[in-house]
Amino acid sequence: MNKHELQSIQKYNRIASDYDNSFDGKFTAKFKQKILDTVLLNDGDRVLDVGCGNGSLIYALKQKADIHAYGIDISPQMIAECRKRYDGIDFKVSNGEQIPFEDNYFDTVIICCVLHHLNNPQSFFTQAHRILKPNGTLIIGEPKFFLLKPFIDYIISPLLKAGDNKLFTHKKLKRLATENGFIIKDIYKKKFMQLLSVSKTAY
Ligand SMILES: C[S@@+](CC[C@H](N)C(=O)[O-])C[C@H]1O[C@@H](n2cnc3c(N)ncnc32)[C@H](O)[C@@H]1O
Repeated sequence: MNKHELQSIQKYNRIASDYDNSFDGKFTAKFKQKILDTVLLNDGDRVLDVGCGNGSLIYALKQKADIHAYGIDISPQMIAECRKRYDGIDFKVSNGEQIPFEDNYFDTVIICCVLHHLNNPQSFFTQAHRILKPNGTLIIGEPKFFLLKPFIDYIISPLLKAGDNKLFTHKKLKRLATENGFIIKDIYKKKFMQLLSVSKTAY
């Protein structure tokens, strides 16, 4: 396990029981609401939330359609919190870089404010492509700070010790998606939020 993974586990274990009231919980709320408002789901779909935190997004998605819902997170306390709160959702402790599901399994995979925690985001894209069905959808939410990015990457993140790697520019996110076989379907940018909806290339 690397330094960022350890820091993420320590930080999110610590705040799991009151995550919604934490800075991260409040910061991510608008991302989750936007995903909830815009994602297209059909009854019977399989949907995975990678880095699901306390499970509130995947639970809300399950209220929107009769989906088979799954969540993984590297923090055991976050997953314990998910299991305490929500029945009928399959939660597992897992790193988003090695996703423990079979090929072509999911209709939709979501990763909300987690990608910048990963040591190797490339591995996540490879895994997301593998576990999505042909034409499946990947939704990526990431913070967008533009001019503040170098300050956050080199000063704030190392001080916070919360397991953050470098933030993503919009271009980098698009490149990672397309280089890993995804087609860009939709892009949404507002204030500190960037959301990409990409589709797995049909074979
Ligand atoms: C900012 S929180 C976002 C949580 C949730 N997606 C939300 O929007 O509320 C980041 C989450 O990513 C998880 N995380 C960090 N590194 C991870 C990794 N390598 N694999 C899976 N989850 C990870 C943390 O434990 C934490 O729950």
